[in-house]
Amino acid sequence: MKLVSLVSVVRPAAVLVLLPLLLIGWAEQAAALPVDRPLSEPLRDQDTYHAVRNISKHAQDLQTEEDSNVRLMPRVSKNQDYLKICCLHANILDYYLNNVLPHHDNAHPSMHRLKTDLTRVSEDLQTQGCNVTHYHDHHHAVEFRKKLAKMGGERGINKAVGEIDILFMYLQDFCFQPRRAAAAN
Ligand SMILES: *[C@@H]1O[C@H](CO)[C@@H](O)[C@H](O)[C@H]1NC(C)=O
Ligand SMILES: *[C@@H]1O[C@H](CO)[C@@H](O)[C@H](O)[C@H]1NC(C)=O
Repeated sequence: MKLVSLVSVVRPAAVLVLLPLLLIGWAEQAAALPVDRPLSEPLRDQDTYHAVRNISKHAQDLQTEEDSNVRLMPRVSKNQDYLKICCLHANILDYYLNNVLPHHDNAHPSMHRLKTDLTRVSEDLQTQGCNVTHYHDHHHAVEFRKKLAKMGGERGINKAVGEIDILFMYLQDFCFQPRRAAAAN
């Protein structure tokens, strides 16, 4: 569109000079764009990211040395469909929103913001087709809940909040729309 309006105001000779420059500019712009689009905006929001980092760091500082060697969140096996990994973590996110974060209220000034942003992520992922219920019995979701229950109480909640950076990283890494699909829209 821009090109059309430019062409109409410049003389033909100038177009021959301008056109390659414009195309180079566009190519550079396209190359600078991220390859994939996140399925939810807060996943690439700097402030959300900082809130996640601050809150997990704060919770990690509260835990004992023994607990710092434990990990609740199962490691992702990357040889699966990335959207399945995304939806599995949408299930774990749903669990955080309903069963973890409500027990960690006001523990950090950024908590309110984080809850608002993560609720939005959860809604977006479900709108984009993640069936959260479907992953309830996935062995990773089960393992996570089991380990958390075993640790129990405030200790477990702290541990889970300390791992919210891992959860967020998985959501960032696997919840995206491939560029091809985005271009087809
Ligand atoms: C995170 O913590 C840093 C320093 O501790 C602070 O400057 C920043 O405002 C905090 N950001 C959020 C979003 O909590
Ligand atoms: C979501 O998954 C559950 C459990 O697998 C299933 O019963 C339900 O029908 C699914 N919902 C949709 C909308 O596909």
